[in-house]
Amino acid sequence: MSGRIPQDFINNLIERVDICQIIDARVKLKRSGQNFLGLCPFHDEKTPSFSVSQEKQFYHCFSCKNSGTVLTFLMEYEGLDFVAAVESLASIAGVEVPREQLGKAAQARDKKQQQTHKRLFDVLDEASSYFQRMLRQPEQAQAAVDYLKARGLSGLIARDFAIGYAPAGWDGLLKGLEKTPPAVLVEAGLAVTSEKGRTYDRFRDRIMFPIRDVRGRVIAFGGRVMGDEQPKYMNSPELPIFHKGRELYGLYEARRAVRKLNSFLIVEGYMDVVALAQSGIANSVATLGTATSAEHLEKLYRYAGELVCCFDGDRAGRAAAWKALELSLPLLREGRSLKFIFLPDGEDPDSLVRKIGKKEFLNRVSQAMPGIEYLFQRLTEDLDLNAIDGRARLAELGLPMIEQVPDGVLKQLMLQRLADLTQLDVFGSALGRSTMGQDGPDLRRHEHVEDEPYIEYKPSKISKDLLSRLLKYPHFIEGVPVEVREII
Ligand code: GTP
Ligand code: MN
Repeated sequence: MSGRIPQDFINNLIERVDICQIIDARVKLKRSGQNFLGLCPFHDEKTPSFSVSQEKQFYHCFSCKNSGTVLTFLMEYEGLDFVAAVESLASIAGVEVPREQLGKAAQARDKKQQQTHKRLFDVLDEASSYFQRMLRQPEQAQAAVDYLKARGLSGLIARDFAIGYAPAGWDGLLKGLEKTPPAVLVEAGLAVTSEKGRTYDRFRDRIMFPIRDVRGRVIAFGGRVMGDEQPKYMNSPELPIFHKGRELYGLYEARRAVRKLNSFLIVEGYMDVVALAQSGIANSVATLGTATSAEHLEKLYRYAGELVCCFDGDRAGRAAAWKALELSLPLLREGRSLKFIFLPDGEDPDSLVRKIGKKEFLNRVSQAMPGIEYLFQRLTEDLDLNAIDGRARLAELGLPMIEQVPDGVLKQLMLQRLADLTQLDVFGSALGRSTMGQDGPDLRRHEHVEDEPYIEYKPSKISKDLLSRLLKYPHFIEGVPVEVREII
C-alpha cells in the first residue's frame, strides 16, 4: 500500500483503542486508584513502577522514565517500526489503514521500492531454504556436517539458527532456484556477474549463516569457509533491506528464545552467538564484522536495559570498548547500562564458554565492569590526581563526556564522581546545572572550610534519587563525596 498514513487516522486510532487492554495483554497490570500499575517491561524491576492511565491513554514508568502512547508502546515492546505499529494497532481495532494520495511520481517510486523489498525478501528466503536443504544432502555436505560437528554444534542449534551450506561449484544456487531469474539473484547479492558476462554463485563451499531482521525475515547471509582460505567470512553486500552497520546477528533468535530479555551480550562473531546459545546463553548478538554503532546500541536498548560487551582484552578490544562507551553516553538513562567483560588472551566467547562452561561464563558476565567505572578508570589511568594539572586534565576530559549523558540521576552521579576525583566544587554548580538550570561548573578548588555552601544543601529530590540509585548500585557510593554522603 503506498502513500502516507493520515495523521488524523493515527490520532483517532490511538483514541479508539484501549491502551490498558493492549498493554495488559502483554504486561500484567493491576488497578491502582485511577491508573493501572505493573512491572515495567523496559527495565528490570521487582516492584511495579509502570503506570498506565486509561483517562490519558498514556503510560509512564516512574523508574526508567519511559513513557508514551499505545503506539510507542507497541514500537518499543514489539520492536516494530512506526508503520508496522500503526498497522498492528489497526488490525487490533479491526480497521483498514488508509493512505493519503501521493503524487503520481512518488506513488510509483513507493510501489517500486516495495516491490523490490518483497522480491529481495522472497529470494533470500528461498535461498535460505535451499542452503539448509543442502546441509542435509549427505553426498555434498559431509565435510560441512563434519566441520559443524567438530566445532561442537548440535543439529538442534543448527536448525534454530537456520544454518545451511552453499555447495562447491559455480551454479548450485542458480540451478537450485531455477525459477528465479539470475538477475534477481544478482540483485539480492547471491550471485555475481563477471566482466565476461558469466553469472555464478557468490557463496561457494561455505557454511551459511542467515542474518534475520527482528521479524525473522532473512535479509542477508554470512558464509564461512571450512578451511584456512581467505576471506574467512563473506557477507552479503549492502542491500536496500540490509545495512550492515544497523543489523545484529542473533537478535531475532535471542528474542525468540527469551521471553523477557533483561540484558544482551554483544560479541564479535557469528560462531560466538551460536556457541553461546548452544551452551544455554541465548541472549547474545554479534555485529557483522563492523564496530558497534549507536544504532546497534539504540536497537538493543529497545529490548533490554543492560548491554554487556564481550571484547578482547588487547588494545583493539579496549579501543572498541571505549568507542562503544562514547557512543552510549547520549543513550544512557535510568535503567540503561553498558558493561564490559574483557576476554583472556586468545579466547573468544565461543572458545571460552566451551572451556569454562555456562555457569562460570555467566559468573564473569555478572561481574562485568560498569561502563561508568570503565570511563573513570580509563580517564584517570595516566593522570596524577595528586597534582593540580592532573585533576584539571581529568575535568577537561571528563566533563564533555558526562555532558552528553541526558539530564538525570545517572548524570548527577557521574558529575559527583568527577567532583570527588578532581576535588572541585562541582556539586553545587555543574550538578545543579544539569538539574536546576544554573550556570556552568564551578571549577574553584574545593576548600575544606566549615562554611562551604554545599553543607547547607538541603536534602531534596536529588537526595531521594541518589538514595534509590545507591540502593540499586551500592558501588556508586565511591563516587559520592563524604560530605554528600552525610547529607543523604
Ligand atoms: P570463527 O570462530 O573463526 O569461525 O569465527 P568467529 O565467529 O569467531 O569470527 P571472528 O572472531 O574471527 O570474526 C568476528 C566477525 O568478524 C565474524 O563473525 C565476521 O562477521 C567478521 N569477519 C571475520 N573475518 C572476516 C572476513 O574475512 N571477512 C569479512 N567480511 N568479515 C569477517
Ligand atoms: Mn571464533
